[in-house]
Amino acid sequence: MHGKILVVDDEKDMLTLFKRIITEKTKHEAITEYDTAKAIELITREPFNIVFTDLKMPKMDGIAFLEKVKKIQPSATVIIMTAYGTIETAVEATRKGAFDYITKPFRKERILLTIRRALEWQTLRHENVVLRETLEQQKMFPSIIGSGPGMTSILKKIQQVAKSTATILIQGESGTGKELVAKAIHSESDRNNKPFVTIDCTAIPVQIIESELFGHEKGAFTGAWKDKKGLVDEAHEGTLFLDEIGELNTAMQAKLLRLLQEGEYKPVGSLHIKSVDIRFIAATNRDLRKLIAQGQFREDLFYRLDVIGFHLPPLRERREDIPLLTHHLIAKYSKLNNKQIRDIEPEVMAILMARQWPGNVRELENVIERSIIMCTSGQIGADVLMTDLPPSKLSSCFDETIFRLPFKEAKEAVIQGFHRQYIQAILQENQGNISRAAQQAGLQRQYLHRVMKDEGISAESFKEN
Ligand SMILES: Nc1ncnc2c1ncn2[C@@H]1O[C@H](COP(=O)(O)OP(=O)(O)OP(=O)(O)O)[C@@H](O)[C@H]1O
Ligand SMILES: [Mg+2]
Repeated sequence: MHGKILVVDDEKDMLTLFKRIITEKTKHEAITEYDTAKAIELITREPFNIVFTDLKMPKMDGIAFLEKVKKIQPSATVIIMTAYGTIETAVEATRKGAFDYITKPFRKERILLTIRRALEWQTLRHENVVLRETLEQQKMFPSIIGSGPGMTSILKKIQQVAKSTATILIQGESGTGKELVAKAIHSESDRNNKPFVTIDCTAIPVQIIESELFGHEKGAFTGAWKDKKGLVDEAHEGTLFLDEIGELNTAMQAKLLRLLQEGEYKPVGSLHIKSVDIRFIAATNRDLRKLIAQGQFREDLFYRLDVIGFHLPPLRERREDIPLLTHHLIAKYSKLNNKQIRDIEPEVMAILMARQWPGNVRELENVIERSIIMCTSGQIGADVLMTDLPPSKLSSCFDETIFRLPFKEAKEAVIQGFHRQYIQAILQENQGNISRAAQQAGLQRQYLHRVMKDEGISAESFKEN
């Protein structure tokens, strides 16, 4: 760790000495200042890891200076420099938050050691804070697994926004945990003793979605032989989870907008307006901005929903969470199936970590569940997993017919297959943009172009119309 160190002393010789020791012997940055007022200004402007300060200075004494520093930058480590006569004051300073004191005259080694210790302590303190936060979040959301930076920041955000009543829009590919996050927000909110109601906009036929959502009055349409409450009514004072909001037709979008804006709605066939108190959370795996551009989604509704936005990363972008998730799922399905399976072979884990997982956590969950059912030993091995895994995008150029070819031909066939699949995959991901695909793959554009030509791959078919 490279630190930034500020040294404050009214003796200019002392400053020169310090600066020389620090820059000669370490890679830390050293800034010196003899005027306490200017030093305070510096501290207000930029962060420092360590601040060395003299105890006796003309304008402001070291203790007052220490208190100021601690107020402006509580995380800075302050070290007091003192002459023999003032050790008692130095001890007082440590009580007021100084990390250590050193007595003048001092040896070079003493300064270097103090710097090293202070920085080690800072790293430790930082790690502790991160660890504590992660542990607390994991305790708070035991169902949401993930300790990598992507999930950690999601868990933190859930905590931050749960108590507000702001509308939330959760975007993410299928199976990334959108519903899980919606439920976690509800359970952390003050509404957690009220209902969490889900409406899945894909599962309900268009004709009845309005009456499902808003309810209807007797006689509103054929078959409406009595009054029926809608899901909105059920969600009163609780949370309404609008799942797959991108599938809602435009007529319903307008009605939903009114509900969001005014908290009002009309049951089908009714003349009376009803009002409700609901916290809305919406989710979608569609690109709403694209739908807006295509005129399929109302822009005003989008902004009304996206007050607080969550973007759940796909599993392939947080592979570091795969081992933890896998173990969690093994334990879960082992228990459900009354089996004693505790582990997975390291090679199998490597396969799981390398896959693309287009179906994200849900796909991983299905694979593990099936493996647990098929598994006859205490450990999931490659045999169990491989019979079950659908051919991976990465390995499908390698099938058993390969072994019937002589080695050289087999190798060429696999390499050729690999070229095709790899290039098609990166072009697909970059919508046929060769420059971007080359950049992603770390290849020269010309090289990629040449291989594409050799393989007869055209970028056109990957361009979106
Ligand atoms: N971080 C996670 N930790 C543990 N389980 C997870 C996590 N993310 C997702 N899951 C599990 O994966 C499955 C899919 O999650 P969920 O239904 O929340 O995804 P989704 O984003 O709503 O998917 P879809 O778009 O297909 O509806 C669930 O069984 C859920 O419990
Ligand atoms: Mg879902």
